[in-house]
Amino acid sequence: MIRGRAYQAYLARTQAEEQERIYCKHGMDHLLGVARIAYAYLLEREEGSSKTQFKELVYAAALLHDLGRWVEYKTGEDHAQASARLAKPLLIEAGFQVDEVEAILDAIREHRQETEHTSVLARALALADDWARDCWNCSAQGTCHKFRPEMLNITY
Ligand SMILES: [Fe+2]
Ligand SMILES: [Fe+2]
Repeated sequence: MIRGRAYQAYLARTQAEEQERIYCKHGMDHLLGVARIAYAYLLEREEGSSKTQFKELVYAAALLHDLGRWVEYKTGEDHAQASARLAKPLLIEAGFQVDEVEAILDAIREHRQETEHTSVLARALALADDWARDCWNCSAQGTCHKFRPEMLNITY
């Protein structure tokens, strides 16, 4: 189980750091939004549909991708790297296989920056990370570094 005590403690640290934040926060709403959108995106593309574990991989990656957000607030370390580091023991403890752990950690590390080796899972995570934001209704849109006008073209 990923969402045990350590997981909850990390989320609580991020929540405490984000109390005054005017931009998107990184609590369970965001994490579940990313999970659902990334999974739907992959199903639409029929990626991995034959792998029984695929849903678990996608949800694990999404639920863990911002786990180290509080570390970035405190030390300036890139949160994608910090999240992967914190996520590793949780994934092992949850019983994922070595190759699954590596795939999930790669996706977490790459969710902010595509590389030439970016996997389908990492790409889904990165896209869902943007699509999960409610830019349409956000009053901080004008100063948000994540905001791009095309984000308003999604009219769901
Ligand atoms: Fe992130
Ligand atoms: Fe995120």
